[in-house]
Amino acid sequence: MCGIVGYVGDKNAQDFLVSGLKRLEYRGYDSAGVVTFDNSGKATLVKAKGKIADLGTKLVSERREDKVGIGHTRWATHGEPSEVNAHPHHVGNIYLVHNGIIENYKELKNALSNYEFKSETDSEVLAALIDSFYKEGKYPLTNAVVQALKLVQGTYGIAVMSDKNPNEIVVARAGSPLVIGVGHGETLIASDASALLGHTKQAIYLNDGEVATVTAGSVEIKTLNAEPVSAKVEEIETNLAAIQKDGYEHFLLKEIMEQPKSLKETLRGRVDTRHGMVHLGGPGLPESELRKIKHLVIVGCGTAYNAGLLASYYIEQFTPEITVEVVVASEYRYRQAYIPKDSLALIVSQSGETADTLACLREIKKQGIRTVGIVNAIGSTIAREVDGGTYVHVGPEISVASTKAFTSQVIAMVMMGLTIAQAKGVRSSFLKPYIEEIASLPEEIRKILEEWNEPVRALADKYKEYDHAIYLGRDTAYPTAMEGALKLKEISYIDANAYAFGELKHGPLALVDDRFFEFALLPDGQLYDKAVSNVQEVLARGGHIIAVTNKKEFDLEVENVVKISTSAKLFAPLLMNLIAQLFAYYMAVAKGYNVDQPRNLAKSVTVE
Ligand code: G6P
Repeated sequence: MCGIVGYVGDKNAQDFLVSGLKRLEYRGYDSAGVVTFDNSGKATLVKAKGKIADLGTKLVSERREDKVGIGHTRWATHGEPSEVNAHPHHVGNIYLVHNGIIENYKELKNALSNYEFKSETDSEVLAALIDSFYKEGKYPLTNAVVQALKLVQGTYGIAVMSDKNPNEIVVARAGSPLVIGVGHGETLIASDASALLGHTKQAIYLNDGEVATVTAGSVEIKTLNAEPVSAKVEEIETNLAAIQKDGYEHFLLKEIMEQPKSLKETLRGRVDTRHGMVHLGGPGLPESELRKIKHLVIVGCGTAYNAGLLASYYIEQFTPEITVEVVVASEYRYRQAYIPKDSLALIVSQSGETADTLACLREIKKQGIRTVGIVNAIGSTIAREVDGGTYVHVGPEISVASTKAFTSQVIAMVMMGLTIAQAKGVRSSFLKPYIEEIASLPEEIRKILEEWNEPVRALADKYKEYDHAIYLGRDTAYPTAMEGALKLKEISYIDANAYAFGELKHGPLALVDDRFFEFALLPDGQLYDKAVSNVQEVLARGGHIIAVTNKKEFDLEVENVVKISTSAKLFAPLLMNLIAQLFAYYMAVAKGYNVDQPRNLAKSVTVE
């Protein structure tokens, strides 16, 4: 979603702002802009609809040697993508970039009747509000910002400058991330630490309710109530190599192919096959507490939700006397759900910033329920607010469609379940097959990706003209089908829906005709024969079936078969998901779409 950058130092500000925004491109945006200032406060404000490259083209004729400025990529919420709605917004003496949503902007706008607004955005209203306090003589700028923020309802990460004092930037956050990079003689600002890489590894993560006044050599942080906060400088863990394409055409393919390595990172130091044990330190729960858990609530959005659903099937298999509920965060936050006291909540999020997931976390904590994060982005808001956590450690995931995070989220949650089962005294001989298979997965994933990358590319080519797809699975293959369908619709814009095989006859079977193809997941196991009967029903109605299976004696006359060979049994569906990931990727490539930044979507959804 929207991105913020800022620079004050001794180097060219435009250069950093543009390169920083490029790093944030992956989050999704539809317009961009930067403003820089010379020593006298003369501003150069340049905005463009479209890509950063379009902004770069405009900047050629607006090249300045200014050493301070702020920039933004916008993902439209209020008002269409356009140059006038793009940030920075300029009102009076104030220049502002904003991530988030000002919910009471209409009310504020009415009260600011002496201002003329150029854009349709809520952000311009905030700029005007700050300007009104600034004009009233609420110097320095920080005071005007604080006064304004006290009237605001909603979420924000902001960077604000005044042309009267162009050597400082004021930043603040409430629900939208902001990082301050501390360099030598320069201070940098970003909504995501990846924009700072190559400049500094020292970062201060701002907390909600904090305001910082930033110059080239200083960072002063206070709360909105003017209490001083001592800044904690942390090391950024990501490196530059992790955010580059590494020879792949797209980040998405790189991230799919990275899964043997990324899953290994998730497992590192946590799986002990010799003793058949899992060790998770992060949740910080002693055995006595783990034993008391009777109920798990798993909260997530999008792929994180699907990962939770798949993990729940496994956790139920081996954890006695426990119920698992998996919920969509945007719904759950407004439900009047009662959570029993002996519950544990798993908060699942790749970015650790998803607004709805974060809101659920806060609601759940209010009820006194212990929370554990299943998060990737280190130092993210969710990671910092949960009571304990298990990082999935897959490294930066740049492509909007989530792949490697999904695989590791599932396994991290299963490991959490195993930790509970161990504490509850489940026989280790019962848990051992799960643990051994988990340990084998990185290598199984490597083999499947190596064998199937090319064939799946060819397969996608055959199906690229279809507009509709049905993904089907039973048991653990059902959440996998859901994730497969989500991947396909996200990046290839094909209308894809997933159904449990058993639900076919209750409606979806009516859809089967030549406009649809069916992606059927058929893992070998207890329910294989039942799923095969369902496939027969689709075949009998002229379905166009791609079957993905690990059944050695597969002999159904379907249009195409992807027969994976793997020693994994329990987690075969997770391996089949690799085929679905590759298939979605190659469909999008075949259709010529922007694979890494699909239309209308954002990587990190920081607004409701
Ligand atoms: C967005 C992304 C999805 C992701 C979802 C949840 O919609 O495009 O790929 O699954 O948010 O994100 P999170 O960072 O909380 O896992």
